[in-house]
Amino acid sequence: MHCVRKIKEDLYWVGANDRRLAMFEGVFSVPKGVSYNSYFLLDDKTVLFDTVDKAVGKVFFENLSYVLDGRPLDYVVVHHMEPDHSATLTELLERYPGAKIVCNRKIQNMIYQFFGIDVTERAIIVKEGDSLDTGNRKLAFYMAPMVHWPEVMVTYDPLNGTLFSADAFGTFGALNGAVFADEVDFDRDYLDECRRYYTNIVGKYGVQVQSLLKKAAASDIRMICPLHGMVWRDNIGYIVDKHEKWASYIPEETGVLITYASIYGNTENVAEIISAMLREKGVKTVMFDVSVTDSSEILSQCFKYSHLVFASATYNTGIFIKMDELLRDIAAHNLQNRTVGFIQNGSWAPAAGKLMKEILSPLKNLDFLNETLTVNSSLKENQLAEAQAFADAIVKSIKI
Ligand code: FEO
Repeated sequence: MHCVRKIKEDLYWVGANDRRLAMFEGVFSVPKGVSYNSYFLLDDKTVLFDTVDKAVGKVFFENLSYVLDGRPLDYVVVHHMEPDHSATLTELLERYPGAKIVCNRKIQNMIYQFFGIDVTERAIIVKEGDSLDTGNRKLAFYMAPMVHWPEVMVTYDPLNGTLFSADAFGTFGALNGAVFADEVDFDRDYLDECRRYYTNIVGKYGVQVQSLLKKAAASDIRMICPLHGMVWRDNIGYIVDKHEKWASYIPEETGVLITYASIYGNTENVAEIISAMLREKGVKTVMFDVSVTDSSEILSQCFKYSHLVFASATYNTGIFIKMDELLRDIAAHNLQNRTVGFIQNGSWAPAAGKLMKEILSPLKNLDFLNETLTVNSSLKENQLAEAQAFADAIVKSIKI
């Protein structure tokens, strides 16, 4: 049975939710599910914007058939070829043989790469600023390379002021019947998942996201329709502001994120003591055990907070494996503009501090605290002053 939402008089959400997927892209846990958004525009011509993941193909085709109500499908606009949006494209092309594919050249090539089909005869190839007349409006197309793949493009509908933004402005989390961000308590229920989605999926490409935001600022955008998560029709400035911060690697909050890797609890104990010392000075802290919390969550929180402390046991003369993985993930996502401190533990040859710093050193505008706090097996009473000095250095860097 179909399950659609009307977004405007002539625009429908025809996507679907997946709450059974364990790992999005095989790497990101999605405990609250994920939505695959597809949109249908009913103008003189009928236009579908993207398809969906194969997991939700059945309801998607029921949705499409319902909104078409016997009309032919004239166009399918393909914004992004990642299979979470394109896996049902070939079935769509078979079901609707008269539909033209509106895409750029890279997308056409990727259709061949993924599916081995040549769509030359059915493709309308568009470039930056090209438009398509659908009757009551001319849809305009803009390229958005590396948001999140090189072929990505977006569409602007000037009549409704709608930006079909591909992966940009996406959110993890199933929609649960809502489709508009203003239908839910977004800040409470979706913002963390929005940040986790953005930072992990496109966080590396801040420059390219900034360039898309600049292009978007030139249009009168009254609605944003992303490929995952909520549609924005109200308070658009709020979500644009969040994305501007994330894309520019500007912290959302002043506070200290403390992440630790602890084998028997002694490194955790130091992290707890440092956190308590910071709280004593009125500094906000959040803590994560890297062995327990998914690195996608910690990465996301690294984009949120201004100060980062990493505490790790030395393991096989290196960094504890989960911490090593996390730091490489942070480095791969180009995080910038943070103050960073390290705590290392080692029962015979502490080395984690130096090695952790080496991983993050190539990142831009990181201020490293001068001293690494070193612990041999466990923190002792006579080291409390040293621990306090470490905490005080963080406080001082916040209050400068
Ligand atoms: Fe939602 Fe880059 O795909």
